[in-house]
Amino acid sequence: MAYKDQVDLLKIPKHVAIIMDGNGRWAKGRGKLRVFGHHSGVTSVRDVVEASVEIGMGYLTLYAFSAENWNRPRLEVTAIMELLINTMQKEISMFTKNNVRLNLIGNLEMLPPKYYDQWQTALEQTSGNNGLTLTLAISYGSRLELINAAKKIAGRVKTGDLKIDDIDETVVGESLYTAGIPDPELLIRTSGEYRISNFLLWQIAYAELYFSTKLWPDFRREDLFDAIIDYQKRERRFGMTSDQLN
Ligand code: IPE
Ligand code: IPE
Ligand code: MG
Repeated sequence: MAYKDQVDLLKIPKHVAIIMDGNGRWAKGRGKLRVFGHHSGVTSVRDVVEASVEIGMGYLTLYAFSAENWNRPRLEVTAIMELLINTMQKEISMFTKNNVRLNLIGNLEMLPPKYYDQWQTALEQTSGNNGLTLTLAISYGSRLELINAAKKIAGRVKTGDLKIDDIDETVVGESLYTAGIPDPELLIRTSGEYRISNFLLWQIAYAELYFSTKLWPDFRREDLFDAIIDYQKRERRFGMTSDQLN
């Protein structure tokens, strides 16, 4: 297990994204309901957020609920929605203490309207913080994000605000939910699944992928450090040769 002093603080990825998977299996393994696993996952979130602050990471993006997760049993969906908003409210003081700014990405119109104001308040209460930007992906689907971006760009072309020839990576990037946030250098998925599940498809074009067999409720700061140390050993070539880089 890696500790903080083994991490090279000069080579911290600016942005780490995590697919927090395995809550249901964690609970089932203990003879409990899936929801118990989601609740237990909050401890991991807190630990990973605090660790990210400690090592001076700029952006942490957590996949909390996918666009496809709406298809789960209604009781589970309701429980997750409640857990998300309650957790956010409880953690505001921790965010403020750690200078964490909260950000949300996803199809937020799908969120239960009764929580709109509470989400808005949570965002506003941390909007002045300028340390770690913690982005929660909720009701998030990357394909939908890209479709929305295509619509935005088409609209701008239609009104004459943008020429077709001027559409480039910057224009597309600025049309995504993640506008203004640098692409993740490191993407972590827990629970031993080796897939992306519709997460940040555009943004992870050159991310380093790291898969942990731990289930999310067991994931702790040391596991984050393990992933970062692994990342720090890799050579990111971006299509070039090793010789060109050295
Ligand atoms: C991740 O854990 C949390 C969400 C997707 C909301 P899961 O609920 O997917 O847990 P498993 O993968 O079924 O174990
Ligand atoms: C991905 O996990 C979404 C989140 C972690 C929020 P899932 O458990 O929904 O992914 P699949 O269905 O196994 O691909
Ligand atoms: Mg899962």
